[in-house]
Amino acid sequence: MSDTGKGIKIGVLVSGGGTNLQAIIDSCESGYIPGRVVVVISNRKDAYALERAKKHNIPALFINPKDYKNLDEYSEKISEELIKKEVDLVCLAGFLLKLSPEFVRKFKNRIMNIHPALLPSFGGPGMYGHHVHEAVIKSGVKITGCTVHFVDEEYDHGPIILQKAVEVKDDDTPEKLAERVLKEEHKIYPEAIKLFAEKKLEIIDGKVVKKTGRT
Ligand code: GRF
Repeated sequence: MSDTGKGIKIGVLVSGGGTNLQAIIDSCESGYIPGRVVVVISNRKDAYALERAKKHNIPALFINPKDYKNLDEYSEKISEELIKKEVDLVCLAGFLLKLSPEFVRKFKNRIMNIHPALLPSFGGPGMYGHHVHEAVIKSGVKITGCTVHFVDEEYDHGPIILQKAVEVKDDDTPEKLAERVLKEEHKIYPEAIKLFAEKKLEIIDGKVVKKTGRT
């Protein structure tokens, strides 16, 4: 772990547009999160998230999964890059690949993910992007939302840190719903990272407990 005197060092893994990455960068720059993003890694060359990182002078790496034998070796390469940068916290922000169990063990309780639904509902393999919001609307639930959780070896699983509810309206489309959920994602992801950076999160019996008093 790095010297956290200047705040924590954050590594962000992305596959797409990177609006959550942007929210994290902005929250670091404004001082809301005591920390900074030290590296952004994408599995896709054309991910706009890489451009966002470059605009803030953050090292932005495209690591091509095709250059590795399997996801274990790919995860190993990513972990090497994160360790090189002495990352304290790994944030998955729209990262679509599943990392190896070894990777999860190495960064135990130091990997977060954001999911655009209220887990444990509407999560798991295949539940990403518009698929989530389509499934939500099809099911007829009246409330959805977003979840920030620590990552364990299962897909969209692990101790939940924060959730925010969003109403599903009768005339919602997956696009309209996604937009309202995303707005909340941009608030709770930085909030969860801030809590982590301030050492206010504790995992007890597989559940996240927020520390309130002084220690
Ligand atoms: C978000 O909806 C996030 O919850 C999910 O992927 C999407 C990424 O969006 N994991 P962006 O790339 O941060 O804009």
